[in-house]
Amino acid sequence: METLIVTDITDHILRIEINRPKKKNAITAAMYTEMAAALARAAEDPAVRVVLLHGQPQIFTSGNDLADFMDAATGFGEDRPVFDFLRAISTTAKPIVAAVTGPAIGIGTTMLLHCDLVYAGDSARFQLPFVNLALVPEAASSLLLPAAIGYPRAAELLLLGDAFPAAKAREYGIVTDVVADAEALNVARVAAQKLAAKPPAALRLAKMLMKQSMVKAVAKQMSEEAEHFANQRRSPEAAEAFRSFFEKRTPDFSKFD
Ligand code: COA
Repeated sequence: METLIVTDITDHILRIEINRPKKKNAITAAMYTEMAAALARAAEDPAVRVVLLHGQPQIFTSGNDLADFMDAATGFGEDRPVFDFLRAISTTAKPIVAAVTGPAIGIGTTMLLHCDLVYAGDSARFQLPFVNLALVPEAASSLLLPAAIGYPRAAELLLLGDAFPAAKAREYGIVTDVVADAEALNVARVAAQKLAAKPPAALRLAKMLMKQSMVKAVAKQMSEEAEHFANQRRSPEAAEAFRSFFEKRTPDFSKFD
């Protein structure tokens, strides 16, 4: 069977690669479970000092698998694997460096808010289409984005939900730097290597000190988002949004109030 999440450890760096290019790296429940397990391993294994996260040259990820969203069997509660992944990525003590080339949609963008360094290639395109899909923001993005980039910009990205290029992500401070596509993974790897060579306890403490004021608020916001997300996922307007994607047509929300 194809390995949809590839991991390896080299020179104290745990690499996590999203590897489902045929479906534009859409992330299924099983893939979230694997990513959460990889992050748990990073937390426990003293050989790991840094996590390096990336997709393929043409695609970071098209976000949550939309077929999973339509399938009630994937469940609606916070016991879903996506929450194991979100809890892990939002609380990991060790730094996470991400390289993004191609689209990074939905959770593809929100997971980056929990990374420490993000290098985007020129082709990177970000999007937070939750409202377009009749859903609500997740991964505490409804808290972190306004706090990080200001309400007007957060509202632009979360309410309009349009795709935006790497240059705008850099201007808004969502990514660390923009580099040539061919360089993105390498630049991220070099940054990860630099972090891995630093005194590990000091590195973890510095991250903790920067993040600690938000930790409880982030967990609380994720829970609140999850409740609305679950309700919206079951809504007729969401059914129309998901169906329209697979039928390759524009959704029609005119009959909803
Ligand atoms: N969930 C499930 N399947 C997905 C998917 C997703 N999030 N994104 C893409 N796919 C599938 C498509 O259904 C298609 O499958 P098929 O070949 O069996 O028909 C395949 O991946 C290729 O996608 P396609 O849309 O044809 O590629 P594209 O290059 O024209 O567009 C994207 C790429 C990423 C821009 C586009 O696929 C897209 O917008 N995806 C949905 C993004 C989204 O709304 N995610 C949810 C965020 S909460």
